[in-house]
Amino acid sequence: MFKKILVPVDGSEGSWRALNTAVELGKKFESDLLVVNVIQPYNNAALLAIPLDHATVTQGNNELEKIGDKVLELAEERLSDYPHKTEFSLEIGHPSERIIALAKKANADAIVIGSRGLSGIAEFFLGSVSSKVSQYATVPVLIVK
Ligand SMILES: Nc1ncnc2c1ncn2[C@@H]1O[C@H](COP(=O)(O)OP(=O)(O)OP(=O)(O)O)[C@@H](O)[C@H]1O
Ligand SMILES: [Mg+2]
Repeated sequence: MFKKILVPVDGSEGSWRALNTAVELGKKFESDLLVVNVIQPYNNAALLAIPLDHATVTQGNNELEKIGDKVLELAEERLSDYPHKTEFSLEIGHPSERIIALAKKANADAIVIGSRGLSGIAEFFLGSVSSKVSQYATVPVLIVK
C-alpha cells in the first residue's frame, strides 16, 4: 500500500503543506515520492485573440519551463533528507489532466495534493485542480488543507 505517492506542486504554500504530509505518510509506508509540476503553454485561443510571433511564444514557453524547473528544484531541496526514492517530473498541458494521466502512467497508488494553490481565493474550499483530481483519479486522494 502506498508504494508510490504522487505529489503535485505548484509552488504555493498549500502545495508545500501537501508535500510535508506526503513525507510523513511516505516515511510510515516506505513510499517512493513522485513530485510533479505542470506548466500550461500559451494556447491557440490566446494566440488567435492576440497574435504573437513564433519567437515570442517560444520565449514565453521557455520562461514557463524555467519556472517549472525552479518549483521542482525547491521540492528537491525540501526532500533532501527523505529516506526513500524521489522522482521529479515536469509536465506540459492541462494541470488536472496531466496529473491524472501521470498517476496512471507511473502507477502511483495515492495522490497527496493541496486544497488550494497559487490563486488561493479563500472563499472556496477546493481549487479547480484539486477538485478535478479528487473527482477523476482512480487511486485514493488526500487533500491537505
Ligand atoms: N500546475 C500545477 N502543477 C502541479 N500541481 C498543481 C498545479 N496547480 C495546482 N496544483 C496542485 O493542486 C493544489 C490546489 O491548487 P488549485 O490550482 O486547485 O487551487 P487554486 O490555485 O487556489 O485555484 P485555481 O487554480 O482553480 O484558480 C495545489 O496545492 C497543488 O498541490
Ligand atoms: Mg491553481
